[in-house]
Amino acid sequence: MRRSRALSVLSVCALVAASLAFREGTSQSQAPTYASVKPIFDRACIGCHQGQAAMAGLRLDTYANIMKGSTSGKVIVPKKSGDSLLYKRISGAKPPVMPPPGALPASEQKKIKDWIDSGAKER
Ligand code: HEC
Repeated sequence: MRRSRALSVLSVCALVAASLAFREGTSQSQAPTYASVKPIFDRACIGCHQGQAAMAGLRLDTYANIMKGSTSGKVIVPKKSGDSLLYKRISGAKPPVMPPPGALPASEQKKIKDWIDSGAKER
């Protein structure tokens, strides 16, 4: 009697742990967050898009500034990379390509595309 109760408590624990691990895994692979694209902006963009002298008034140093956009308006339309000026400029759909003088590697362009298309979430 005692033994089987202990066993069932154990198996409930195992189930809970397994389902938590599963949720963790899927949420990460389905929705990339700002944390996964920030290193790209930091390395390839903020040299020209930061502070008072930011080109086109577009600051790419924080999530809030990216979502605020440039002097001409929003550059990210959540869930619509095709309508997002930022993605059009890095993919070359709207020249000249960002960053000058050469495009990001395809894998980084895709990371930013996936982030926008999954809602451009901060976390
Ligand atoms: C060497 C400097 C430089 C770097 C690095 C750079 N940019 Fe730019 N960016 C500019 C300049 C200059 C403009 C304004 C002229 C133009 O639109 O081409 C601009 C304009 C833009 C615009 C258009 C804003 C608007 O409203 O017209 C976007 C979007 C943009 N950059 C995104 C990026 C992204 C994303 C990166 C990094 C992947 C990046 N830039 C890296 C210099 C740079």
